[in-house]
Amino acid sequence: MQNILKAIQTAGIFPVVEIERLEDALPVAKALRDGGIAAMEITLRTPVACEAIKAVRQAYPDMLVGAGTVLTPEQVDQVREAGARYIVTPGFNPSVVNYCVANDLLIIPGIDSPTGIELALEAGLSAVKFFPAESRGGIKGLASMAAPFKGRIRFLPLGGINPDNLISYAKNDCVLAVGGTWIAKRNYIDAGRFDQITRNAQEALARLHGFEL
Ligand code: 3PG
Repeated sequence: MQNILKAIQTAGIFPVVEIERLEDALPVAKALRDGGIAAMEITLRTPVACEAIKAVRQAYPDMLVGAGTVLTPEQVDQVREAGARYIVTPGFNPSVVNYCVANDLLIIPGIDSPTGIELALEAGLSAVKFFPAESRGGIKGLASMAAPFKGRIRFLPLGGINPDNLISYAKNDCVLAVGGTWIAKRNYIDAGRFDQITRNAQEALARLHGFEL
């Protein structure tokens, strides 16, 4: 599990993607890879999400594919079967967290308070999602909340992250990587604008690493 966290850290940015039409799964994955990001979180917000995870894993075995918006242990089984390498949840659901821990699956639950951090530490986790980041105080809110737990846990901020604010999060030591939907927005996918997804990925990486495109 630590190696998957390490890979997420190396990617630096993980796009959150909602796939409505299964045929869009591979073009989106390719667009992200072409833009330099070989990682994506496919959310269980559409009926084809598990099939999309499976298709991307089969076509691009090296791609770091996770499952998001996982709300029940049954869904954990479904996404594991589909090939998801990690699980992300909007909040801290003890039954989902415990089920993943018991099954040696990397779980990154959402938290927005010190209580959530303590629950995650008690479950033996070393990374959590900070959600919804911008409306919970942004990087300032995160930094002050994380201060007492320095060195024990790292954060993946999501919720309102964009090209303009991502660096303020990413440069903080407590942040493992940032994520969000802005790179592969649903309207780009639905319109077949995969070239825009590639450009967004390139722009995000340029911001993250501080180079000109
Ligand atoms: C998520 O599913 O993690 C969030 O919807 C991402 O938030 P964003 O749409 O503001 O990036």
